[in-house]
Amino acid sequence: MVSRVSLLLLAVIGCWACRGCLAQIPIPARTDGFVYGGKPLEWGETVVVEAFLDPVCRHSRHAWPELKKAVEHYNSRVSVVLHLFPNSYHSNALIGCRSIHAASKLNRSFVYPLLERFFKYQEGYYDETTYTKSRSTVADEITNNIVVPIIGQANLAAYKTGFNDSQSDQAARISFKNGCARGVPGTPYFFVNGIPLSDSDSPLDFNEWISIFDPLVAKM
Ligand SMILES: *[C@@H]1O[C@H](CO)[C@@H](O)[C@H](O)[C@H]1NC(C)=O
Ligand SMILES: *[C@@H]1O[C@H](CO)[C@@H](O)[C@H](O)[C@H]1NC(C)=O
Repeated sequence: MVSRVSLLLLAVIGCWACRGCLAQIPIPARTDGFVYGGKPLEWGETVVVEAFLDPVCRHSRHAWPELKKAVEHYNSRVSVVLHLFPNSYHSNALIGCRSIHAASKLNRSFVYPLLERFFKYQEGYYDETTYTKSRSTVADEITNNIVVPIIGQANLAAYKTGFNDSQSDQAARISFKNGCARGVPGTPYFFVNGIPLSDSDSPLDFNEWISIFDPLVAKM
């Protein structure tokens, strides 16, 4: 009897949880993601790599320069779309992602320089480095050391408002949910023309990217 009741309870809880997973993700007015190089993306006209990266993730840091070099090699026949994906096991990932979303509201040209600055100085924001620091201290340090050098002092007030407002919060959540809905297990993770690269999390080097892109570009 007891086990039947608990089974029933489990079933009810299970269904409730499923309702949660199936809930409609809010649809943003602009497609999630930031196109590298600032040119508008022509769907179907280039090979498109979608890169799910976390600004405080070591492997994302190693993956990006190789992908960037490969993409630049093809001149505009390969495009990159960055999706910010905060790994839940990196305590400061959400602050990092939100700060990039907030800066992008000021000017989308801040996104990639900011991402690269995060990669350059990310050791300062690992869990072990910030373990005894409060969330607000970490947010302030990120603002002063990472964000301001990119956006400039003149944009600081607007950035601070943007960092806390519901728009950047919503944008960061949508990026995360988008990744979850598409089965992204962590970062870095890549889709090429919409198809997931299954060994994404062992960072690909320049030559490996070239061997993926060459046959695709040849058929465009
Ligand atoms: C955004 O930044 C670019 C490059 O620095 C600049 O040319 C452009 O005028 C800026 N746009 C706005 C709206 O400030
Ligand atoms: C965001 O809000 C908190 C609490 O209201 C505030 O202390 C902080 O300065 C604000 N801005 C940033 C960038 O954290």
